[in-house]
Amino acid sequence: MPTIRLTDRTLAARSRPATRALMQAAVTAQRAPSIFNTQPWRWNIHDETAELRADRDRQLPVVDAEGRMLTLSCGVALHHARVALAGTGHVPAVSRLPDPQDPDLLAIVGIATFASASPTVVRLHQAIAHRHTDRRPFADQPVPADGLGRLRDAAEQQGAHLHLLPPDNVVLLTVAASRAADAELADPGYRGELAAWTHQTAETGEGVPLDTTGPVGRRRVPVRDFAPEASNRPVIADIAERQARYAVLFTDGDDPASWLTAGEALSAVLLTATTNRLATSPMSDVIEVPSARRVLYDLIGRTGHPMVALRIGIPADSPQPAPGAPRHSGAALITAADAEA
Ligand SMILES: Cc1cc2nc3c(=O)[nH]c(=O)nc-3n(C[C@H](O)[C@H](O)[C@H](O)COP(=O)(O)O)c2cc1C
Repeated sequence: MPTIRLTDRTLAARSRPATRALMQAAVTAQRAPSIFNTQPWRWNIHDETAELRADRDRQLPVVDAEGRMLTLSCGVALHHARVALAGTGHVPAVSRLPDPQDPDLLAIVGIATFASASPTVVRLHQAIAHRHTDRRPFADQPVPADGLGRLRDAAEQQGAHLHLLPPDNVVLLTVAASRAADAELADPGYRGELAAWTHQTAETGEGVPLDTTGPVGRRRVPVRDFAPEASNRPVIADIAERQARYAVLFTDGDDPASWLTAGEALSAVLLTATTNRLATSPMSDVIEVPSARRVLYDLIGRTGHPMVALRIGIPADSPQPAPGAPRHSGAALITAADAEA
């Protein structure tokens, strides 16, 4: 199934400026991070609108039976597309979950008007190409408070909230993450899903490559072990992470509209972190396992619904940037609807 589908493939339609801008935005949004790098979205471009649809064939039945992480991932792609449009001078008009009879239609995106992009939006747009999930140990330097404040503002602007854990609460996140890891790794169904999405070749354009999963070692807060059976990964006995900060992104509601909002906010937070030279890695195992999610609910003061946790730090002083995960890319993404028949 193609990721981007044009309903009208005539040259006239393809060369329409709005169609071209929406196609370009959908291609850029392909860089969005997603659960297990499943890229569970599809874009249908009709005339001057782009429909964002959930791709249920890419839902993870064990990890994500409800589709929460799928919808969150689609929200990240939606925000990436909005930034891509705004960054090229198009003010997007977005209608979210517009049809109650069609819950997989997550958004319809059009172009409201034109306006030159602000420097902030230009930086966010540029950050899309540079952002990676960074699971390596962070540098032993404190994260500046003003950077953390910008991440909080970014979440609020999208209608969500970012709770930064005070250092003496981190131990509770450690409890939640350990509990989540133990519960998931004990489930053969989970292990099967993990193996299916971590043992792909780069050519498939999806999944989590082994070289992005970070070293093996004891961490202050465990990160998801993507390859529990792999024996050829670098080992660091004690990954101290003294200066890492942890945060919980949460929303007021807990329904598909809130999950979509959480995804848009996650995108805004991750891209803002990139523009502030901060490294990040999302943690959703603590949401997937109900008893761990309950700990996060307590950690945010029972004021909302935890959607994803984040590990934030100063990137390691390494000559290599964080390795990237592949994407379905290029022209193969775009297929004209009538060419499929
Ligand atoms: C909703 C969501 C949940 C994620 N959960 C985790 C997680 O629990 N642990 C982790 O290390 N990475 C997690 N990630 C990061 C993805 O694995 C990552 O985005 C994907 O493999 C693509 O890599 P990239 O972010 O470097 O482009 C999550 C990302 C999203 C959007």
